[in-house]
Amino acid sequence: MKQILVISYSQSGQLSDLLSNLVSTIKGEIEVISVQPKTKFSFPWISHEFFNVMPETVLEKEIELNEIMFKRENYDLIIFGYQPWFLSPSLPATALLKNDKFKKIINNTPIVTVIGARNMWLNSQESVKYLIKDAGGVLVGNIPFVDRSPNLLSAVSILHWMLTGKKERKFGIFPLPGISNKDILEASLFGEIIQKSLENNSLEELQKEVLSSNRVNINTNILFIESRAKKIFKIWANQIIKKGSTPRKRRIWVNLFNYYLLIALFVFAPIVLLVFNVLIRPFTQNRITKNKAYFYSIELIKK
Ligand SMILES: Cc1cc2nc3c(=O)[nH]c(=O)nc-3n(C[C@H](O)[C@H](O)[C@H](O)COP(=O)(O)O)c2cc1C
Repeated sequence: MKQILVISYSQSGQLSDLLSNLVSTIKGEIEVISVQPKTKFSFPWISHEFFNVMPETVLEKEIELNEIMFKRENYDLIIFGYQPWFLSPSLPATALLKNDKFKKIINNTPIVTVIGARNMWLNSQESVKYLIKDAGGVLVGNIPFVDRSPNLLSAVSILHWMLTGKKERKFGIFPLPGISNKDILEASLFGEIIQKSLENNSLEELQKEVLSSNRVNINTNILFIESRAKKIFKIWANQIIKKGSTPRKRRIWVNLFNYYLLIALFVFAPIVLLVFNVLIRPFTQNRITKNKAYFYSIELIKK
């Protein structure tokens, strides 16, 4: 009997639902752990708090987690579920990957990452790959789930969900926020793929099988945004930490970031994307294809 650890943090329960459907088709002894931060993040979020976690999240600072009790010292497979926050692993996910106890468990063990995102997970997965490698783990697969609605609509609807706690259509007209119920239910198909790899002892082929399901798609516009936005977030994060030396100053700087982000998302990004699609994209198709191939893979470019 294979020993499988499923470990994650989820605020709304979306990621937990994904994971429980995914593992429903895996046979083995399955240990499920839900990690919790010592100081909880409120859900629904208070608007200021939502933006206030950006600097520490982007700079991958470690927060304290409640003690985690593992039943075993070794597992045949770890399924690590996480969600991106501000193009980085969420604070609890980073803390888990930096937790000494978990790092010991990760060492020399195959890991599958399962992501429950809005639609931007490329940068966060790069960080997760480095953290897994640092702990001596072996990434064998990555299964990202996204909200398939258009970028701007899903940004409005997810903010509505995060700030009200209600997974409903904003004004009755915006798309339902988050990953669709259909995709959440069909997560079980990925469990079947993992099950086959476990049975055949072919986890090194797992990512190929995941991709051949044709259920993972990288959108070119999102690739373009992500390749630039993380650098800008890092500048903001460092600036807020440097200038926000008192609670009042921090509040001012976080508010500035909040306004910047909304303008960047709803005003700058559409203009820049238009220019990119008309003038640049036709001449950079090879590079785009190469970049996508990298993010579809589980490879890690050396630091
Ligand atoms: C503070 C915060 C920042 C987020 N930033 C991103 C992001 O950069 N990219 C993305 O795809 N989703 C982002 N999301 C959405 C989450 O990845 C996730 O899909 C959502 O919070 C539901 O996860 P849950 O299972 O923890 O409830 C963000 C959510 C929060 C709360």
